Amino acid sequence: MSRAVDSPRVVNIGDLRRLAERRLPRAVFDYIDGGADAELTLRENCRVFDEVTFRPRNAVAVPRCDLRVSVLGARLELPLLLGPVGSSRMFYPRGEEAAARAAGAAGTAYALSTLSGCRLEDVKAASSGPVWYQLYLVGGREVATAAIQRARTVGFSALVVTIDTAVSGLRERDVRNGTKELLSRNPCMMLPFLTQFLARPRWLAGFLSDGGLMAFPNVVLPGEGPMSYADVAAALEQSTVSWADLRSNPDCGKCGAMTDYDSGRPAIRFDNERVRTEKALRRLMQHEMCHVAVIDAATKLRQDSHGPLWQECMKRFE
Ligand SMILES: Cc1cc2nc3c(=O)[nH]c(=O)nc-3n(C[C@H](O)[C@H](O)[C@H](O)COP(=O)(O)O)c2cc1C
Repeated sequence: MSRAVDSPRVVNIGDLRRLAERRLPRAVFDYIDGGADAELTLRENCRVFDEVTFRPRNAVAVPRCDLRVSVLGARLELPLLLGPVGSSRMFYPRGEEAAARAAGAAGTAYALSTLSGCRLEDVKAASSGPVWYQLYLVGGREVATAAIQRARTVGFSALVVTIDTAVSGLRERDVRNGTKELLSRNPCMMLPFLTQFLARPRWLAGFLSDGGLMAFPNVVLPGEGPMSYADVAAALEQSTVSWADLRSNPDCGKCGAMTDYDSGRPAIRFDNERVRTEKALRRLMQHEMCHVAVIDAATKLRQDSHGPLWQECMKRFE
């Protein structure tokens, strides 16, 4: 893989996208590349980056550029980090561990999705940098509390709560690629959609040698074990987080991760026994919500949204 992404094969992100399209089965590629409904928001989110231009300052000596920043108490070498991407293990064997390792080597942080295919413990062990845990309340509050406790014990330094998945988006590419049928475990329904996998033998070999269809080892359902892949859409819809949950969640409070929580800030840093809240928010898409958040968070606001993956939505908040 690393030779495939060496220069000059890969010079920019468009090159990486092209390689991914060649390597992955359609349903897997479209999961990363696609958006909800007619993908208006996806296109708009890409377009607005073209409006950003730099204003260079010339005739200025820059002996050493210092790109280091501090985010949620973590010192990063770069002003960027790897956000949570669910099911990364579908893209590449032990994908979350590979991404966390690369983030650590680059001196930046990695946020592990609740919906990851690798165990919290293994992801932490893979990275030399800070790791954060992104929380969905899939499986219910007890399941989330246990995962938070595990994350905290192994050394995840922040909890990032995602609040924008109250409904599943209509992802049209998934419908065309037969994602639902492929997850049905019914061979007759799956059959018409299997050729896309046979057309990608290298991916298929890696997928099978990595254990096949991943489960979610960090969503451990009582009496059942890790949540299965097929159950994810329904579980997400039942895991809505409200501002009330964020302000006082007795279950999460038990393990100390969401105590001290009057200000309603959904990103929290584990800080010894006393949990310090930090001013970061994920998934704020609407102006009014940002307003509430700004009032709550009082000072600096970091804003990010699920982007167009899950819903058509308003323009990127400026
Ligand atoms: C394939 C894919 C999976 C994602 N999975 C998650 C997830 O599990 N949890 C989460 O909070 N955000 C998830 N996101 C959202 C990203 O973390 C990020 O917020 C979003 O893509 C917007 O950033 P971007 O404009 O750099 O893509 C996912 C995004 C993509 C494209």
